[in-house]
Amino acid sequence: MAKIGIFYGSTSGVTEEIAIALREKFGEELCDIYSMEEDFDEYSQLLDYDYLLLGSSTWGAGEVQNDWREPLFEIEIDKPDFSGKTIALFGAGDGVSHGKHFVGALGIMCNIFEKFGATIVGEVPTEGYNFEHSTAVRDGKFVGLPIDEVNESEKTEERINQWVETLRPILVSAESDVLIPA
Ligand SMILES: Cc1cc2nc3c(=O)[nH]c(=O)nc-3n(C[C@H](O)[C@H](O)[C@H](O)COP(=O)(O)O)c2cc1C
Repeated sequence: MAKIGIFYGSTSGVTEEIAIALREKFGEELCDIYSMEEDFDEYSQLLDYDYLLLGSSTWGAGEVQNDWREPLFEIEIDKPDFSGKTIALFGAGDGVSHGKHFVGALGIMCNIFEKFGATIVGEVPTEGYNFEHSTAVRDGKFVGLPIDEVNESEKTEERINQWVETLRPILVSAESDVLIPA
């Protein structure tokens, strides 16, 4: 049975918590989960999955979390084929202290994986988020799920739940444990 691969990079554990919650909600039997720091060796691991949930918090000024830097660099160099892959992006940020670069990592990852053929799903309306600017906004929506645990932690659970419900019909068929072919 095809599975969903969840890969996350998280420095202080916030994106890790989101990744764990996503795995729980989609079902542990359906998801393999990888910490980019501990479980990741090379990007061919991503290519093992047709369905990917990729998580990165944002650091620096709108940059990807440290553990994603090298893999993304290698993908840019090698140009592997991600066509046929369905990818949803998620990640933590801070819309107040870093409001000019809010969750920029999602924008960077969207551009890279789309460039190499992936279909990006799971966009999220910007309503209800407090931030100034984000390269992760396209056509008025975030390209994935932003979580702001620093300023809007009371909204986190609902945001994750809503996102999972949006993604479920895209990823999982009515028989609940069968993934929909891409
Ligand atoms: C030095 C520093 C730089 C940061 N830069 C950004 C940024 O550019 N954009 C953003 O949305 N959040 C930024 N953040 C906030 C983190 O992304 C936020 O704390 C997040 O919850 C960390 O998630 P993690 O524990 O999964 O790594 C920054 C935080 C620090 C300490």
